[in-house]
Amino acid sequence: MSGALARRGLRWLLALACVLLLAPALRAAVPHEDAVPAYAEEQTILQQEKDVPEPGWFSLDSGRRHFDRNFLVPWGRDAEPELILQRGGNTWRTLRNGPISTLSAAILLLVPLVLFGLWRLVGPARVTEPETGRRVQRFTRWQRWVHWATAIAFLLLAVTGLLIFFGKQLLIPLVGHAAFSWLAIVSKYLHNFAGPVFIVCSVLMFFTFLRENRFNRRDWQWVRRGGGILTHEHVPAGYFNAGEKMWFWFGVVLLGLVMSATGLVLDFQNLRPTRYLLQWMDYLHIGGATLYIAAALGHIYLGTLGTPGAYQAMRHGTVDESWARAHHRDWYEQLQARQGRTGVGPASSAPGDAP
Ligand code: HEM
Repeated sequence: MSGALARRGLRWLLALACVLLLAPALRAAVPHEDAVPAYAEEQTILQQEKDVPEPGWFSLDSGRRHFDRNFLVPWGRDAEPELILQRGGNTWRTLRNGPISTLSAAILLLVPLVLFGLWRLVGPARVTEPETGRRVQRFTRWQRWVHWATAIAFLLLAVTGLLIFFGKQLLIPLVGHAAFSWLAIVSKYLHNFAGPVFIVCSVLMFFTFLRENRFNRRDWQWVRRGGGILTHEHVPAGYFNAGEKMWFWFGVVLLGLVMSATGLVLDFQNLRPTRYLLQWMDYLHIGGATLYIAAALGHIYLGTLGTPGAYQAMRHGTVDESWARAHHRDWYEQLQARQGRTGVGPASSAPGDAP
């Protein structure tokens, strides 16, 4: 009894420690957080340039030079290497280190808290029938390889990306400037090289799991009943349920595209994107990263603590028959029907299996 109490206390302490550790990110801001734009130099530039609008989103000169620079550098000559202060640069910094990082940190703190609450108050989706001992193949070796390669690349990108984004505010007070400098350099290189690997993995993931992620009418029922997550009801579902399909289309496909496109622009600075474009890509990259990490936390919870047995399916490829019947009844019945027709056991029936 006292052991259980101590364990519970330790869990709450750990959760509290995480919150306290991440809380400073809510205040992550440049020194003059209330001044927009913050610096005297930018104020001066804005004054000088107030009657000369930016060349516009589609102009190659957007975000490239300043009104005052045009006096210093003859028209047509490349001003970029000589540019120290760009109009809007400080606005980007103020937004990125102020409201954007505050919102991102709030979402990334709130989601684990909600999931923790869901786990403690509602509990996992259990299978009430006892295990049959008969295993059904759910994922082939190839599907598992693609899944884990994508997951590892994603985790690497998420950790290094968050270090680049929040590290300055969170880690410098803890580890000092020298250690943080090394951490930031290593994170930057890991992130830059893991990015393209993640894109290749995401493309493989798309083609590997596309067929099973097409929506059908039964999915609507699953959505209307909230997947039975709060009521512990097992809503009938096919090979993937509607929640898993939403994760595929909204996460893997849509956010995968946003992260890849914006990440590639940030990666290839040798193609000379304007600063203006880089700033916009950065806003989108941070927004996409926040949503993608938040959704991935939900996916990880549902694939481990939230649905006992689901992790084993992705780890070893098989599930117990009673698990398949409870969580994916339509798929299980299809397997049964196929078994009845061909006499082939369900153990060889994962989609994508070689015939
Ligand atoms: C899908 C998972 C990804 C996550 C969660 C993620 C997250 C992040 C975050 C939070 C930042 C910091 C932004 C800032 O500090 O302003 C960042 C920067 C960056 N990301 Fe990603 N990213 C992902 C994928 C990618 C991909 C696929 C690429 C490239 C193909 C990429 C390339 C970059 C680059 C070049 C930077 C700037 C790094 C630097 O300062 O040199 N990212 N990412």
